[in-house]
Amino acid sequence: MNKRFYITTAIDYVNGQPHLGHAYEKVIADVIARARRSLGQDVFFLTGLDEHGQKVQQAAQAEGKDPQAYCDQLAQDWKAFAGALGLTNDDFVRTTDARHKEIVQASLAKVNADGHVYKATYTGFYSVKEETFLTEKDRRPDGTFDPSFGQVIELNEENYFFKLKDQQQWLIDYIEKNPDFIQPSYRRNEVLGFLKNNTLEDLCISRPKARLSWGIPIPFDSNYVTFVWFDALVNYISIPAAHGDKSVTSAVHSELRTPNSELPLWPADIHVIGKDIVKFHAVYWPIMLKALGLPLPKQLLVHGWWQKDGAKISKSTGNVVDPVAIINEWGVDAFRFYVLRELDIGPDGNWTDAGFNSRYSAELANGLGNLVNRSLSMLKRYRNGVVPAPSNELAADAEKVVAETKALLEQNELQKALQSIWSLVTRANQYIDKTAPFKLAKDPAQAQRLDEILYNLVETCRILAVLVWPFLPGTAGKINAQLGLPGEPDKLSAAVWGSLKAGHQIGDPAALFPRKDV
Ligand code: MSP
Repeated sequence: MNKRFYITTAIDYVNGQPHLGHAYEKVIADVIARARRSLGQDVFFLTGLDEHGQKVQQAAQAEGKDPQAYCDQLAQDWKAFAGALGLTNDDFVRTTDARHKEIVQASLAKVNADGHVYKATYTGFYSVKEETFLTEKDRRPDGTFDPSFGQVIELNEENYFFKLKDQQQWLIDYIEKNPDFIQPSYRRNEVLGFLKNNTLEDLCISRPKARLSWGIPIPFDSNYVTFVWFDALVNYISIPAAHGDKSVTSAVHSELRTPNSELPLWPADIHVIGKDIVKFHAVYWPIMLKALGLPLPKQLLVHGWWQKDGAKISKSTGNVVDPVAIINEWGVDAFRFYVLRELDIGPDGNWTDAGFNSRYSAELANGLGNLVNRSLSMLKRYRNGVVPAPSNELAADAEKVVAETKALLEQNELQKALQSIWSLVTRANQYIDKTAPFKLAKDPAQAQRLDEILYNLVETCRILAVLVWPFLPGTAGKINAQLGLPGEPDKLSAAVWGSLKAGHQIGDPAALFPRKDV
């Protein structure tokens, strides 16, 4: 069986409700997954939840709940959220799944048996919030630790360490030889700078049960649980193992229950992650994989962070964007469109309600919505909804945009792809204004010219449905249905000019993006 295109997102801490940042990342991954399927590839898209560790234990405690019960309850909300975003994930991992825990333990046993792990006493400072040990380098000039570390405590405890020393050079070489491994390139340069200017400290991968009980037990010492990141990163291979990926099961020497499929998935083609967790993915994860004898993922695609109205998104200050409220009010396609059209994958972005409203009305309602509605309504009114003979006036414009979009989707250039698609929307709306079919309709001598214009418009709408499908699947489906076409416009190969046949009867036009009076 051929390896599928395997794309993942970061798995979210389940210590509250999902927000804009979580939603944005999942939408990026979904659009890439859908785009690859539209291009004809077999895809496996994985997302899910990071349920262990201190943050989740504390959140459960704060509500007086048992952590597992707390996670089970919230996981329902998060799964519903994935549905509300229109995600087409093929699986949903929870790190409390038995299938995941099994592979984490098998991975730990393997790296331990191969001499990558040792036990030592750590004395020093520890950030509870970041679940990380701090060094002198983390101190500010006045000797204090940055408030972002939250409560800092002094610790003296024995733990297991995963060796990172001596792993630096091959990783630097690898990143230098594989420019696509970390994208965008400025993130790659940051990682290279970090690796070249610092000596890696070995990574503490255990927490004593006495201090933190909410984790996966270390298989070779029952007094400890696994550090949450060693647990979480493994989700990218535990789910392939659960689907019968033999490269993973044999690497970790796992004697898994017989899975009901045999999907080769690893290595991942893309891990979509935020800028704050690059070090875990670009430094620790590759070293873990090498120790396990597994190949590295092909790409880390790193997105920036959203702010709202120029300030940090924060529950405590109330500066939040609730994606569910936006989706309920404006529709999921409007949400997906805004976040991807507004922000390229890489830099930080700023959500403003005014910006959202203005893209909704200019690009969705007046742009795409108006084009489809005017085109289909005129065909209905002037030709009883029957498609006239093919004409090629807009063919070259459409073909150029299809080729451009295809190339951009192959490079995960989602914002640029939307810009290209919207150049066709604008072109077609201008074509209506210039050719004025509503005037020609009054003159029977212009019947042939009117036929030509109507064909060009309706065929452009059909092609646009195919192009927007990865981004706006619901809207694309509606356009297709209004065109009286069966199924979903989910294959880019259908975006060939002239496929709409003369005599085809379209369905009933209806507004795609109802106007809002705000
Ligand atoms: N559980 C870890 C990831 C483990 S992956 C093996 C984690 N979880 S998180 O819930 O804190 O963040 C999940 C993702 O959401 C991260 O990629 C993070 O960058 C992203 N975002 C969180 N807030 C964000 C914004 N304000 N804007 C954009 N993305 C942000 O880290």
